[in-house]
Amino acid sequence: MKVLLIGDIVGRAGRRAVRELAPDLIEEEEIEFVVANGENAAGGFGITKQVADELYSYGIDVLTMGNHTWDNKEIFDFIDQEERLLRPQNLPPQTPGMGHQVYTLDSGVKVAVVNLLGRVFMDNVDCPFRSLEELIPQLEADLILVDFHAEATSEKIALGRYFAGEVSVVFGTHTHVQTADEQILGAGTAYITDLGLTGGVDSILGMKPEDVIKRLTTNLPQRFSVATGDTQLAAVVVELDLESGLALSIKRVKQIHTNN
Ligand SMILES: [Fe+2]
Ligand SMILES: [Fe+2]
Repeated sequence: MKVLLIGDIVGRAGRRAVRELAPDLIEEEEIEFVVANGENAAGGFGITKQVADELYSYGIDVLTMGNHTWDNKEIFDFIDQEERLLRPQNLPPQTPGMGHQVYTLDSGVKVAVVNLLGRVFMDNVDCPFRSLEELIPQLEADLILVDFHAEATSEKIALGRYFAGEVSVVFGTHTHVQTADEQILGAGTAYITDLGLTGGVDSILGMKPEDVIKRLTTNLPQRFSVATGDTQLAAVVVELDLESGLALSIKRVKQIHTNN
């Protein structure tokens, strides 16, 4: 079966890319399960119930988060009731929400999704390697999809190689820049360092360039707003073997929707 994994959706432009491009991609590729990173889906910072529901309506089955999970306080009102929304696994045990979940598809296939945070050039969290290592034996699933939300390419490749052959897919998120290193690691773990940006093309990581440049050139506080105009969807399509739980192929996707 095939899964579609979509990179960080940034604000209204990112949601428009999903709305305009994902349904056709899902149909053409005969996708059975869709995971997307939604940590920037509401105005670039965090997520709301309304935004999550909008994204589910475009065909997304599960939303993963990252370091921006708590940016929009509305998440505290619904994360404990929302099984399709995952925050990182390697946070303190009393943290609201879930870091992983096993979803049973109509076909009976059980798909585990795990969201993990990196530690290099990021805030302190529990070790993502140990966290996943402890979790894997508890997962009663045919497939295991891991969103590794991290900054450093080395940490991401290391996690992919460490779990090669043990999970179905390790896909990186967070940098909003798509990497061209999609590959099959070890016995069959599909891997990419970063899925990339789903959002405004004419932007800096999905935000208006002038806002980001002003902050970087003046060091003064500057509010960032979501870029407008043409928008892109960044993702991978992974074909999985249900017998082994491993990957057969990984294909990188970047599609642009022109705003006219
Ligand atoms: Fe992000
Ligand atoms: Fe992030």
